[in-house]
Amino acid sequence: MPTVFEILHKDAAGRIGKLTTPHGVVETPTVMPVINPNIQTIPAHEMRSFGAQILITNSYIISRKDELREVALKDGLHALLGFNGPIMTDSGSFQLSVYGDVEVTNEQIIDFQQKIGTDIGVPLDIPTAPDVSRDQAESELEITLERLKEARSMVKEGMLLAGPVQGSTYYDLRQYSAEELTPHNFDVYPIGAVVPLMENYRYAELVDVIVASKKGLSPVVPVHLFGAGHPMMFALAVALGCDLFDSAAYALYAKDGRYITTSGTYHIEDLSYLPCCCPVCLEHTAEEIKKAPNKVELLARHNLYVTFQEINLIKQSIREGNLLELVDMRCRSHPSMVEALKRLYSHVDWIETLDPASKSTFFYTGPESGLRPEIKRYSDRLGRLEIKGKVLISAFPIRKSEEYDQYLRFKPPIGTYPIELSEVYPFNAEVPESIDYEAMDKALLNTIDLMSRNADAQFTFICDESVANHPRFTELPENVEVIIRGSSDAFSSQL
Ligand code: GUN
Ligand code: ZN
Repeated sequence: MPTVFEILHKDAAGRIGKLTTPHGVVETPTVMPVINPNIQTIPAHEMRSFGAQILITNSYIISRKDELREVALKDGLHALLGFNGPIMTDSGSFQLSVYGDVEVTNEQIIDFQQKIGTDIGVPLDIPTAPDVSRDQAESELEITLERLKEARSMVKEGMLLAGPVQGSTYYDLRQYSAEELTPHNFDVYPIGAVVPLMENYRYAELVDVIVASKKGLSPVVPVHLFGAGHPMMFALAVALGCDLFDSAAYALYAKDGRYITTSGTYHIEDLSYLPCCCPVCLEHTAEEIKKAPNKVELLARHNLYVTFQEINLIKQSIREGNLLELVDMRCRSHPSMVEALKRLYSHVDWIETLDPASKSTFFYTGPESGLRPEIKRYSDRLGRLEIKGKVLISAFPIRKSEEYDQYLRFKPPIGTYPIELSEVYPFNAEVPESIDYEAMDKALLNTIDLMSRNADAQFTFICDESVANHPRFTELPENVEVIIRGSSDAFSSQL
């Protein structure tokens, strides 16, 4: 089996990759605009100019309509849509989840997708909704797994094949589903049936579903978050290891008069100003868009521009190693995204195993920065440090002298580390002067840990009241000498 996915750069559990399809290479993360084969709000041939590299459409809809089916079978899918780059096709599964029934079998729809020249095909999985009974989730998952294996045995070459991970909101079933599919070497693994979670702002549970699915998959396979099209949550999903998204949102929101931004959605009627510099927003005022006969198209175009702008920002952040700073920023725009951010960090043990050991300067951007994988990694490795003799720990910048055997720096949220590491990642972190309660707690906890691991050393701890007044400070070992200084005292020259 040739490698179809190559990972080029990584940050947190996110990555930049190259996915090779019959109609060309796609750089991920990326979004596949959904093309409705009946009406194209924005024509498929224009999609490249927005930054789209790959499209997605629905093979079931094409197969049900004579005019579409005949052209697709005769001239191919790419001619039907007027796009010669990669195209993924969904099966009738989404219709199945909405209408409860479809007039097609798994075998028929796989065969059809191959015949029309799809680049990435999808079997007829069952998108089991959140919150169904365990029995239903299990029995539907078994049918899904059977159909996926059947599809795999039908597709040997040419078309890439997606293996959707199901299991509803049962996280063990999500992981089991992913583990069962892995030996069958699907080319792309979509995480399915998450649309109801996103529609209901259940982003924290979405995080759990993604992590459970990812844990069951090999870390080197491409993952598609099925039905995710709002740019507000792309950074979060990419940081958890999702590589592909599909957006019907750009067109559906536009039909509803909604204007997408990376921090949420406005109704165009509520906008007096346009907070965007895309060609649509530069050429029109909010009033003009409200009155335009092609209002839906203008909104769809703006929505697509912001969608791909966010993808580019995410890729740039991965290259710079500051994706988690971007995630932090994006998750401040809605309380349920704040919840999702906290949930992401509840999985830090897993993220830490994938996060690169060195990147650009760590920026403290909020209380959750203390939960980042770098901090956990350092806390886990404290045992490697050997601290002996007279030791100075300072919360202020210090220079070495003869007075102490070892000099350590205290810097929240990292904690206490040898000053020799000060210029090294992540100890060179940029942090604000006033630190949140949680971050101070994290730093004091690992300082206490360091002190108790090296109980024979004689510690002197110089800090100001913002450190000494923290409740955790009372847990320092009793033999530590504490010197409290105002942060403005010119003491460091004395050292
Ligand atoms: N579109 C949105 N969710 C799903 C899913 O779970 N399966 C398929 N095939 N399509 C989807
Ligand atoms: Zn715009």
